[in-house]
Amino acid sequence: MKDTGATIEFRNVRKEFGAFTALDNFCLEVGAGEFMTLLGPSGSGKTTALNALAGFIDVGQGDILIDGISIRQTPTEKRNIGMVFQSYSLFPHRNVLANVSFPLQMRKMHKAEVRQRSMKALEMVQLAELAQRMPHELSGGQKQRVAIARALVFEPRVLLMDEPLGALDLKLRESLQLELKALQKQIGSTVIFVTHDQGEALTLSDRIAVMDQGEIQQICTPQELYDQPASTFIANFIGSNNILRVGGADQHSIQVEGLGRIPLKPGTEKPYAVGLRPELIRRTESDGVPAMVEQTIFSGEAIRYIARTEDGTEILLVEPRHPGEAPLAAGQSIALGFDFENLIFLPK
Ligand SMILES: Nc1ncnc2c1ncn2[C@@H]1O[C@H](COP(=O)(O)OP(=O)(O)OP(=O)(O)O)[C@@H](O)[C@H]1O
Ligand SMILES: [Mg+2]
Repeated sequence: MKDTGATIEFRNVRKEFGAFTALDNFCLEVGAGEFMTLLGPSGSGKTTALNALAGFIDVGQGDILIDGISIRQTPTEKRNIGMVFQSYSLFPHRNVLANVSFPLQMRKMHKAEVRQRSMKALEMVQLAELAQRMPHELSGGQKQRVAIARALVFEPRVLLMDEPLGALDLKLRESLQLELKALQKQIGSTVIFVTHDQGEALTLSDRIAVMDQGEIQQICTPQELYDQPASTFIANFIGSNNILRVGGADQHSIQVEGLGRIPLKPGTEKPYAVGLRPELIRRTESDGVPAMVEQTIFSGEAIRYIARTEDGTEILLVEPRHPGEAPLAAGQSIALGFDFENLIFLPK
């Protein structure tokens, strides 16, 4: 199949709906074959960005380029973009094979080749056996795999997916995530993927662009996003985090709610807040921050404790579970240990 996807560039795209600005000076560069995820709250402009790229809506200002060439004047059907949406958009009166064949028939490909390519796409999503079934005879996950096969069948150099796994249960979703990632690597398409689910974004993406109110707030690898969120909004949005307010600062240290005085690296500015991941807090015998367990939450592989420090700050910590070991009970006193280098200094 195709070895590389296309590059994509949004250049200062602005999209207004009446008085409302859905995309504001939106800039995004996606590399060939890259898996880029747009992550952000409802209404932040994710679907609008995909619609602008696909040609479903006109761009107000700015430009969109595929492989360095502006596509503003290119009609939707000539942009050669594969698309998968949240709701199964299969043709109800065509069987699975006919659904997958459709984009190739539109391209007036020879019958034998249409069949061969469509079967190959169905094999990729492990549905070759169900080629003759009608959509209503499929489960939700199977329908969504047909939609993915239909988007992949013409080997698009750009693949847009808007919450393609949103309607599925967790188990199915996780297995389809892995399949999708493997397929994308195999085909080499450039992907822009939209999800609400931050776990899904962390699992699938080469890079993640966090959007809020029509703008990109941060764009980086999943690990960078987790370890160095650029704002309190992102630190809260990705995984769980203790966000602690800061108080008085001098040249060398700052007061952090719950943790006490924390050294400041020379030359660093006083942060707006400090983040501390719950899994990076450990219980220590001595020298820790005294706290009392308030709540114990069992979640299978881990135990989460909500503890309160002496200054009244609520701190969440997560520990791997050791079978046979009783978890701490509410009211028990503990001491919280953490490393200064794991504190996230949030500038806003
Ligand atoms: N055709 C339209 N007319 C008016 N406003 C619109 C239109 N399409 C989108 N909007 C508005 O633009 C904003 C961005 O919408 P968009 O669909 O891009 O959000 P989203 O990030 O995809 O959200 P969700 O996660 O809920 O799908 C929303 O506030 C929405 O109400
Ligand atoms: Mg949307």
